[in-house]
Amino acid sequence: MKKTHVLVCLLCWFLSLLCHVSSQSSPDAPFMEKLKASLKIPSSLDWSDPDPCNWAKVGCLNNRVTRIQIGKLNVGGTLPPELRNLSELTTFEVMNNQITGPLPSLAGLSNLQEANLHNNNFSSFPSDFFTGLSSLVHVFLDYNPFEPWEIPASVTNSSSLQTFSATGANVKGRIPGIFNSDTFPQLRVLHLAMNQLEGELPNGLAGTSIESFWVNGQSLNGTIDVIQNMSSLTEVWLHGNQFSGPLPDFSMLTGLQNLSLRDNQFTGVVPASLINLKSLVVVNLTNNELQGPTPKFADNVNVDMRAGSNRFCLDDPGVACDDHVNVLLSILETVGYPQTFADNWKGNDPCNNWLGVACAQGNIVSILFPRKGLTGTISSNFAKLTSLTTLDLSGNNLTGTIPVELTTLPKLTKLDVSNNRLYGKIPSFRQNVVLVTEGNPDIGKDKVPTPDGKSPGGSSSGGGSSSGSKKSNTGTVVGSVIGGVGGLSLLALGIFLYARKGNRTSRVQSPTTVVIHPHHSGDQEGVKITVAGSSVNGGSETFSHTSSGPSDMHMVEAGNMVISIQVLRNVTNNFSQENILGRGGFGTVYKGELHDGTKIAVKRMESGVVSEKGLAEFKSEIAVLTKVRHRHLVTLLGYCLEGNERLLVYEYMPQGTLSRHLFNWKEEGLKPLEWTRRLTIALDVARGVEYLHGLAQQSFIHRDLKPSNILLGDDMRAKVADFGLVRLAPVDGKHSVETRLAGTFGYLAPEYAVTGRVTTKVDVFSFGVILMEMITGRKALDETQPEESLHLVTWFRRMHLNKETFRKAIDETIQPDEETLASISTVSELAGHCCAREPYQRPDMSHVVNVLSSLAELWKPAELDTDDEFAIDYEMSLPQVLKKWQAFENSDSSSFLASTDTTQTSIPCRPSGFADSFASADAR
Ligand SMILES: *[C@@H]1O[C@H](CO)[C@@H](O)[C@H](O)[C@H]1NC(C)=O
Ligand SMILES: *[C@@H]1O[C@H](CO)[C@@H](O)[C@H](O)[C@H]1NC(C)=O
Ligand SMILES: *[C@@H]1O[C@H](CO)[C@@H](O)[C@H](O)[C@H]1NC(C)=O
Ligand SMILES: *[C@@H]1O[C@H](CO)[C@@H](O)[C@H](O)[C@H]1NC(C)=O
Ligand SMILES: *[C@@H]1O[C@H](CO)[C@@H](O)[C@H](O)[C@H]1NC(C)=O
Ligand SMILES: *[C@@H]1O[C@H](CO)[C@@H](O)[C@H](O)[C@H]1NC(C)=O
Ligand SMILES: *[C@@H]1O[C@H](CO)[C@@H](O)[C@H](O)[C@H]1NC(C)=O
Repeated sequence: MKKTHVLVCLLCWFLSLLCHVSSQSSPDAPFMEKLKASLKIPSSLDWSDPDPCNWAKVGCLNNRVTRIQIGKLNVGGTLPPELRNLSELTTFEVMNNQITGPLPSLAGLSNLQEANLHNNNFSSFPSDFFTGLSSLVHVFLDYNPFEPWEIPASVTNSSSLQTFSATGANVKGRIPGIFNSDTFPQLRVLHLAMNQLEGELPNGLAGTSIESFWVNGQSLNGTIDVIQNMSSLTEVWLHGNQFSGPLPDFSMLTGLQNLSLRDNQFTGVVPASLINLKSLVVVNLTNNELQGPTPKFADNVNVDMRAGSNRFCLDDPGVACDDHVNVLLSILETVGYPQTFADNWKGNDPCNNWLGVACAQGNIVSILFPRKGLTGTISSNFAKLTSLTTLDLSGNNLTGTIPVELTTLPKLTKLDVSNNRLYGKIPSFRQNVVLVTEGNPDIGKDKVPTPDGKSPGGSSSGGGSSSGSKKSNTGTVVGSVIGGVGGLSLLALGIFLYARKGNRTSRVQSPTTVVIHPHHSGDQEGVKITVAGSSVNGGSETFSHTSSGPSDMHMVEAGNMVISIQVLRNVTNNFSQENILGRGGFGTVYKGELHDGTKIAVKRMESGVVSEKGLAEFKSEIAVLTKVRHRHLVTLLGYCLEGNERLLVYEYMPQGTLSRHLFNWKEEGLKPLEWTRRLTIALDVARGVEYLHGLAQQSFIHRDLKPSNILLGDDMRAKVADFGLVRLAPVDGKHSVETRLAGTFGYLAPEYAVTGRVTTKVDVFSFGVILMEMITGRKALDETQPEESLHLVTWFRRMHLNKETFRKAIDETIQPDEETLASISTVSELAGHCCAREPYQRPDMSHVVNVLSSLAELWKPAELDTDDEFAIDYEMSLPQVLKKWQAFENSDSSSFLASTDTTQTSIPCRPSGFADSFASADAR
């Protein structure tokens, strides 16, 4: 042995390490030979020596290979499985080459600290890659065309990780919860951008020491609340995902320099904690739905915030929004700024068609957020809307208590918080406030026994609530309806009726249940209505079910809907010319009169004209009409299918069509409609259509709304007729059905006319045209006009551009005073909104109803006594009660009214002429 060898061996011995004689090749040689054979090593890299420790870019310690660093050297080929046998390997760098094939497992390489594999052409990632890699500090897997893979749980074996980088590496699934501070206390870089990751950011990220976090460019969603607890962050790239909800508090992120949020769906106000963040250098906000004032960042911050790409109230940075806007936005804070509102609340004027907001003279009078899917709590800031008369938060998923601040609202007359998950004491409201708290299982209880208890009922779920406890404070009326309409239909109404006996101060509440259920006998379908009420006594009571005493029951049975042709011939004077009311849809409509004087309308398709097509239409009309019942939809009383005859019998609408009153009033010797009438009619129609779209159990699309399909009663209240074209809309109500074109030119939505695709927005468009007709007194297509003003919608848009021309466009019979002009102006806005070119830009009918009802409300007698409106005199007979309900105009009782309409059917039908099995309450 030479001296030097002795020295080395001594040294080795001191280090308690094995000593190998240098003349021996490294024990790793066979594995390195495999590696050399497998890779395509360029000639520039000298790997010719028998001892791999002498190879270029390979490092050894004690004759064992510890480092292979061949990045960016034009290396091709594949990696062999024998890599696993290089048990002393600490650094493996092959990045920026063209290595292909599967990445072999490195499992068990417990000394490996760094694996730089990025920018290659690896085809797959082994699931056991991390197993036993207990020393791994940095791993770079970016930009490899791996088969989609999920981050394996075994990554937890590498608890010293500081860098996990896998951008553009086809990672799928969710970001695992294992990236938390317990498992990876030293993690600083987590780069998972441009993969196929989905789902939400895991809560585990809170409290980690991550500084650079990239997850941009994939399908991640949910809120980013967890970011607020990642206080080490300096760089956050979240852009190009589907993140939503408000931005969190940034005050703990004191080192944050680079924040990219663009191209997501963030809502809410940009928090001051972000705007004032000292460390900020770059912030990207473009293409979100951020609300409130446009933020003004410090001058040295590089801001990417393309104008108009968010929902800021004004474009100028730092300029405050209107006070009303601020209050409304603060109200959304406790429900997480839902996207629907961000989509529909545009500009700086809440009175300009904001979803669920209705104004009168520039003041917010109604907030109608029923069934908006709200979760969270009720904001006490509602109390700042001092003009508020109606607040409807029913059918949401709100928790917490009713804020006591709401009792200070001076004009509040109605608060509906039914069907939520509220609890706690109900604050004491003024006597005349109608308070509806049904369907909150824990309301009235101090504590929350079931914080996650589900609220019964929902927007359209069937079944009645019978378990909801009812509490009412003094002087309130609790009245509510929970019910679903099903087919011809089970309708269970839990109605807590307020019984009134003359004296206002001695009010008594009595529970009553109305159940309407299908009654099948043979092939006849009838509707049976049962009313059960318990007798009146003091105080609030427990809920009574339908099964209560039969002595309290009144039965109303609507009978057979099939009517013989003979009867119809008789009542229409053998379909005489004089009896013709009109021609429309697919047949002629005749007036008929039963022997007790009840008038009906008979729609007849002449025999011989019956095509298969017509028959299908006919059957569709019957099917739809028997399902759809609403006070603003023309009621089907019966039908006849005998031989070639196809007839439908409707209730008679004495005042005929709206078009008659709008366009032909002079010829027919009628008075022109006043604006208030038009408004009421518009609201009636809107409610009918809203019901069709959403309140009926399935959504229907009318497809041929026009004034000749709107009929008026003697009270000049309107109903929508002619459902011959109605097709069942897809159940989710969003997607369109491609069907053949039906409808009338002038009223057709552009997308419908061009593509034949139908959504509920087709009706919204037609409705907008009708509004324009009511405002201008001009027809949708007016052949008497010169070319450029022939098409009402186009002309109206033009006229609406400025005040002067707009005044000229108003029907000259109206002669508006200032108040009327304001009302017309609001309706014009609405009409324009309804006729927006793109279907998604048009509002829902519920929004239309909100706007119109707030306008119509203004014209009602000064102080509505809402108590009276709700009150049911217990001594009235059922038909009287029903009449009274029908007389009561209330948007959120429409499903309820729909049910009462069912009984109305029976009233004109009562004569034995064509219904033989009738018994009604007042025919006892
Ligand atoms: C190489 O490693 C694999 C997996 O750990 C093992 O099964 C095999 O026996 C090793 N080969 C040699 C020659 O040590
Ligand atoms: C990557 O590998 C695939 C097949 O494995 C091959 O078709 C492709 O050309 C390779 N790309 C590069 C840049 O080497
Ligand atoms: C390594 O990961 C596997 C799979 O998750 C796990 O079962 C094992 O306990 C881990 N080992 C260590 C030492 O963390
Ligand atoms: C997030 O996306 C997943 C599917 O990737 C979906 O199931 C989930 O409902 C979404 N969550 C939210 C809040 O949108
Ligand atoms: C974030 O931290 C706050 C206070 O530091 C804590 O209340 C909250 O629960 C944390 N959130 C998460 C998601 O960990
Ligand atoms: C963010 O905005 C800045 C400034 O406009 C821009 O330079 C940068 O490229 C943007 N970053 C991203 C990730 O979009
Ligand atoms: C209401 O919220 C609870 C708890 O967050 C949830 O389980 C339930 O599904 C929600 N209900 C509806 C109708 O959204």
